[in-house]
Amino acid sequence: MTETPVLLATAGSAGLGAAVVRLFAKNGYRVVVNYAHNSERAAELIKELLVATNQVDDNAYISIQADLAIKNDVERLVKETISYMGRIDVVLSNGGWTRFTNMKSLDDNVSEDDWDRAFAINVKSHIWLLHAAKEALDISRGAYITTASIAGLSSNGSSLAYSVTKAAQIHMAKQLARMVGPRIRVNTVSPGLLLTEWAERFTDDQKEAHRQKTALKRFVNIDDVADQVLTLAKSSSTTGINVVVDAGYIL
Ligand SMILES: NC(=O)c1ccc[n+]([C@@H]2O[C@H](COP(=O)([O-])OP(=O)(O)OC[C@H]3O[C@@H](n4cnc5c(N)ncnc54)[C@H](OP(=O)(O)O)[C@@H]3O)[C@@H](O)[C@H]2O)c1
Repeated sequence: MTETPVLLATAGSAGLGAAVVRLFAKNGYRVVVNYAHNSERAAELIKELLVATNQVDDNAYISIQADLAIKNDVERLVKETISYMGRIDVVLSNGGWTRFTNMKSLDDNVSEDDWDRAFAINVKSHIWLLHAAKEALDISRGAYITTASIAGLSSNGSSLAYSVTKAAQIHMAKQLARMVGPRIRVNTVSPGLLLTEWAERFTDDQKEAHRQKTALKRFVNIDDVADQVLTLAKSSSTTGINVVVDAGYIL
């Protein structure tokens, strides 16, 4: 079994997940890219990584389909990762879900389906994934990093179910850090608005209003968030914290 460390990144074929995948590959990690629907996009990213890092081992980067809303898929994702890669050193548990709602309307925020799906992906998938990966992370003394959001820290966001479930995720990660220490570290990153596909659902006016509210008068650079993920993966003294990367939005 090769000793080269392995990153498993969920929702890793686009947006923040892909930025983290690119950074870890550049830093010598083998990488498993999880995706849900778009196998071509995941395959393109794998090809890009092989070229960008002059990788001679064709199996250094692989993609695995799994729907994070389905517990069996999450467990299969970990089993397949271990069977292909032999180890897991870092997990970026990056899946998130929302239905954009009118945040001034209680009526628009009471759909039971929305709350169930938000809880499944924004909260439950993160504990299922840690549970499935625990043995491998125990062996590697690894790092588990979840992606939350500033929506979990302030009274706004794309929907009430999203804000509340991201807050739950931040809270849960602290408790998980106690549960799985001392061998595994658990931390969270909370980005502000990132100009990924996700943000295409905001209007230009909404995006500009967000930018104007930041102290730095800028959108968050996705690579700055990826850098924080790498720092959390490396820091042997950091656990149970939530790192906010929001250009000063929630000050
Ligand atoms: N964008 C923002 O402004 C922002 C701000 C704060 C926090 N966040 C959080 O950051 C994380 C990443 O967001 P992003 O903006 O990078 O999102 P994104 O660009 O929309 O992410 C797309 C990725 O998610 C995968 N995906 C979608 N549904 C999935 C599912 N059910 N199971 C597995 N993979 C799934 C996609 O795979 P397929 O293409 O194959 O479906 C793709 O790899 C989320 O947790 C989000 O809540 C985002």
